[in-house]
Amino acid sequence: MKIESLPVIEGKHNLANYEETCKSFDWKDVEKEFSWHTTGLVNMAYEAVDRHAETFRKNKVALYYKDKNRNEKYTYKDMKELSNKAANVLKGYGDIEKGDRVFIFMPRSPELYFAVLGAIKLGAIVGPLFEAFMEGAVRDRLEDSGAKVIVTTPELLERVPKDLPELKYIFLVGDGIEEDDRTIDFKKKFENADKNLKIEWVDRQDGLILHYTSGSTGKPKGVLHVHNAMIQHYQTAKWVLDLQEEDIYWCTADPGWVTGTSYGIFGPWLLGGSNVIVGGRFSPETWYSVIEEFGITVWYSAPTAFRMLMGAGNEIVKKYDLSSLRHVLSVGEPLNPEVVKWGMKVFNKRIHDTYWMTETGAQLICNFPCMPIKPGSMGKAIPGVTAAIVDDRGEELPPYRMGNLAIQKGWPAMMHTIWNNREKYESYFMPGGWYLTGDSAYMDEDGYFWFQGRVDDVIMTSGERVGPFEVESKLVEHPAVAEAGVIGKPDPVRGEIIKAFVALRDGYEATDELKEEIRQFVKKGLAAHAAPREIDFRDKLPKTRSGKIMRRVLKAWELDLPTGDLSTMED
Ligand code: WT7
Repeated sequence: MKIESLPVIEGKHNLANYEETCKSFDWKDVEKEFSWHTTGLVNMAYEAVDRHAETFRKNKVALYYKDKNRNEKYTYKDMKELSNKAANVLKGYGDIEKGDRVFIFMPRSPELYFAVLGAIKLGAIVGPLFEAFMEGAVRDRLEDSGAKVIVTTPELLERVPKDLPELKYIFLVGDGIEEDDRTIDFKKKFENADKNLKIEWVDRQDGLILHYTSGSTGKPKGVLHVHNAMIQHYQTAKWVLDLQEEDIYWCTADPGWVTGTSYGIFGPWLLGGSNVIVGGRFSPETWYSVIEEFGITVWYSAPTAFRMLMGAGNEIVKKYDLSSLRHVLSVGEPLNPEVVKWGMKVFNKRIHDTYWMTETGAQLICNFPCMPIKPGSMGKAIPGVTAAIVDDRGEELPPYRMGNLAIQKGWPAMMHTIWNNREKYESYFMPGGWYLTGDSAYMDEDGYFWFQGRVDDVIMTSGERVGPFEVESKLVEHPAVAEAGVIGKPDPVRGEIIKAFVALRDGYEATDELKEEIRQFVKKGLAAHAAPREIDFRDKLPKTRSGKIMRRVLKAWELDLPTGDLSTMED
C-alpha cells in the first residue's frame, strides 16, 4: 500500500530521533526535571509559574492576553504574584482548603488564569466551565462535584443555581458588585490581597483538575486529573509542541476543555514558555492577525477551526504576514488530508495531528516534526506509551485490522478516577491492562494509527464532545416532546452536526416554529453547541423492546445505510 507522505522537518527539534528515544526513554527520568523528586511533595502551580520566577525567566513574558478591549502582558514574576493574590482571596474569603472544588465559570481573561493557578496553589481542585454553559449544565457539574466556590462574572451569574447547599461562596469578577454573605467582589479583594503566599504542597496523586465530559449514556462525568500529570504535560510540550525557549505559542482552546488546560496552561508554562491567550470568538481575520501581531511560532488548534479558515478562502491569507509560524498542530477530531494539503499550500507548513482525550490527560499518538507525516493518520504512539488495536477480548490485532484503539495502562497523565463513580472508571479497562479509548482505528506496518470512528454514539461537533443522551434528556423536558433520539450527522465544516428525531405529544402540531422553539429550549437549557441544528419530526422512533432509542437505526435512516440487525426492535 503506497501512501504519500510529507517529509521530516529539518532543524533542531526537542525530539530528534523517535525510534532511539522509544528504546531508551523512561518517565522516571522526567521527574528529575522537577524539584519534588527529592521531597515527594509537589504543586503544579509552583512548577508552572513560581519556579521560573526564580530563574533567568523572571522577566520573560509568560502570558500575552488580547481581546477586543484588552492587550496586556505578564511576566513570570507577575504571574507568581498575581496568582498568589488570587489564592489569598480564595482562601481568605472563600475558606478554600486542600481538596475543595473551586469552579471557574467565565470567559477567557487574565483573571481566569490567576484564579485557576491561585486555586491550585491552595491544593484545591479546579473545575473549569466553558462560558457557553447554561444553567442545567452548570447545575449538573456543581452538584455532582459538591463545589464550594464558583468564580464567575455578573453576566453569567443568572446561570449559577443558588439552591445548592454545598456552594458556599460566589466570587464575581466585574465592576460595581454588591456584596452579601455569599457574594464576594473578586476584583476589590484582589487589589488589596497580599502577594505573598505559603503554597500548599500536595501528594503527586492529589486532585488538580476536574473536567466534565460526555459519554453515550448518563450525565456528564467528572474526569479527575492529579498533579502527577505534569510529567507528561511537560514532556509532550517538549516533544510534540516542540516548544523552545524563544517560541511564542498559541493554543486556541478554551480552558473549559482539556486542551485549554493541559496545553493552554500546564504544558507551555511547565517549560517556561510564552503563552498567547486570545479572548472572544473566532473569526478568520482576528486569527490571522493574532499570528502576525504576536509573531506566533507554535500554533495548536483544531480541525474545525482549520476547516473554517479554509472556507474563508486563500485571498485573505495574503493580507497577513504568517511567516513567523514554525510548527502547527491539531487535535480533537480527524484531521482531513485535504486540510493538511491546504496547510502546505497556504502556510507552507505541515499540520501535525495529535490524538488523545479528556480522560487521558495528555497526548498519546502524535505526529512529530522529526518524522514523515502521512496525511490522514494521527501519527505514532509517543515514547513511553504503548498503543495497540485490540479485539473485544483484549487480544492485539495485526496491522490493517480495524478494532478498538487501546492504550496500555501506566502513562503519567492518566485520569485518577471518575468523580463519585469508581465503577465508571473501572469500565474503561479490559483484561491485559488495556484502557479502551472508545475509538476504532487500525495501525499500518510503520506503526501509524488511522482513526476510523467512535465505537459509541458520542458526537464530535466542531471539536466539542456532546453526549446524545444529555441532549435527548433536555429535549424530552420540552412539553411538546414525547420522545427524542439524537445522532451526529456528518458535516464538511463541523465534522458532525447534531440531528434530533422527535416524536411529539398528542395535540402538538409539527411546525417550523415548534422546531425553532425546541432548538432554543436546548440552547438555553444546555449550551449553544449542544442544540440540534436539524430536527425531524417522526410519528414514532425506533426502540428496542426494553425501550431504548436505537440511534443506530436513526443514523441508518439519515445516511441511507442498511439498518442492520433489527431483532431487538419493538414492532
Ligand atoms: C475524542 C476525545 C483531547 C482534546 C480534544 C478532545 C476524538 C481527538 C483526535 C484526532 C481523530 C480525535 C476521539 C477521542 N479525537 N483527537 N487527532 N483524530 N479523532 O477531547 O472531548 O475528550 O474527545 O475526540 O474520538 O476519543 P475529548
